[in-house]
Amino acid sequence: MIILKNQDAIRSILKDKKILALVPTMGNLHDGHISLIKHAKKHADSIIVSIFVNPIQFNSSDDLKNYPRSIEKDINILKKHGVDILFNPSEKDIYPAKPYLAYELPPLASQLCGSKRPGHFKGVITIIEKLFDLIKPDHVFFGKKDYQQLMLIKQFIFDRKYEITFHSIETVREKDSLALSSRNSLLSKESRLIVPTLYDTLKNAIIELKKFSDIKEVELSAQKKLTDLGWIVDYVEIRRQKDLLKPIDSDKKLVILGAAYYENIRLIDNIEFCTDDS
Ligand code: PAF
Repeated sequence: MIILKNQDAIRSILKDKKILALVPTMGNLHDGHISLIKHAKKHADSIIVSIFVNPIQFNSSDDLKNYPRSIEKDINILKKHGVDILFNPSEKDIYPAKPYLAYELPPLASQLCGSKRPGHFKGVITIIEKLFDLIKPDHVFFGKKDYQQLMLIKQFIFDRKYEITFHSIETVREKDSLALSSRNSLLSKESRLIVPTLYDTLKNAIIELKKFSDIKEVELSAQKKLTDLGWIVDYVEIRRQKDLLKPIDSDKKLVILGAAYYENIRLIDNIEFCTDDS
């Protein structure tokens, strides 16, 4: 595996790559990332994984400081899984000056996680634009755990007319259903036992919705259940899958999304469902 530390190095090496897949990450890799890499291998001759803890998508300096980093372990994982190139630039290389994004984010960017983490998605799209323009991938792979991020990047590719095939990949879960996340490594042993309740609560909310059909009531009841379990809830919301807008009666393909803190660790999760299924 070739490890590249700056943009100049990558420009020269990418010239003769045929079909190129990019898996953008912030490192501290887990089985969710490995699943993205495995999918990428089915579509491309060369796989490039980027590891860059993007400071401008963090709202709190503590969150940025505490974000788990494990580059040596990550390199071993990438080698083991046959990744061709690791792009691991420094902050100075990516942002030599204050970044500027000439793209107006859609209204969705200021809802859900965007309303709780102002500027977060602007930071995400800024780094994504840089990576896409530099690497010019044919295929890109993102996990469904970050459902809103996935929607916004998909929209960005469409708006900017990038010739990139976008792949959204299913969330990988632990045996007890906890969605894999780099942040899980920050959980204490005690918290780790409680946090699968985020997924369980979302799942039960879907069952309740199919019985009672009042979205607002179901969202509020799920929020209350999480609060009673000790979570500080950012939101639990039911949206439609196609654009993450609030559903109308005729919408059948929905997704329930939740974001909450357990002992200061912010976790998110979501479950797609169809109101027609029993
Ligand atoms: O999902 C992530 O890890 C990050 O938001 C991404 C897409 C790599 C951008 O920094």
